[in-house]
Amino acid sequence: MAKLTILTLPDKILRKMSLPIERVDEGVRTLAEDMLETMYAAPGVGLAAVQVGELRRLIVLDTAKGDDEPPRPLVMINPQILALGSQMRRHEEGCLSIPDVRIEIERPSSVTVAFLDREGKRQELTAEGLLATAIQHEIDHLNGKLIIDFLSRLKRDMIVRKFKKQAKAEVTA
Ligand code: NI
Repeated sequence: MAKLTILTLPDKILRKMSLPIERVDEGVRTLAEDMLETMYAAPGVGLAAVQVGELRRLIVLDTAKGDDEPPRPLVMINPQILALGSQMRRHEEGCLSIPDVRIEIERPSSVTVAFLDREGKRQELTAEGLLATAIQHEIDHLNGKLIIDFLSRLKRDMIVRKFKKQAKAEVTA
């Protein structure tokens, strides 16, 4: 396994649409393993392939918390939302591609999703709570959508400007 570099704002790839995976092969399984390692090391509860520079519809998640729960890695290939619950849930979300920014976002509190697992087998899962939030967050990534898009344009531009400035400072430093 290898730890990958997580791309951050204002990297333009984060705004691109990821493409469906045609065949679940060794390359896809290796990428999923590497993404899990990268996510655990960060640490984070979810990661989309686009965040490591791969425009493929693949997300990994683990919302098991801390030492009292065993890890529960989830790999979803070509995830598709089948249904969203009617109840809403507010949660302060962060994103590994937007370090140190947290935004309170309201999303449906449950989601049913279809996806291919690491063996290429079709699975369906209904999730609630943090996992439901994380799945929606990661699928947004596959469509080029970020948590700052839930903000007003003014606030969003402020955050983007800050990251552009930081990136510039790093290049010239
Ligand atoms: Ni994110």
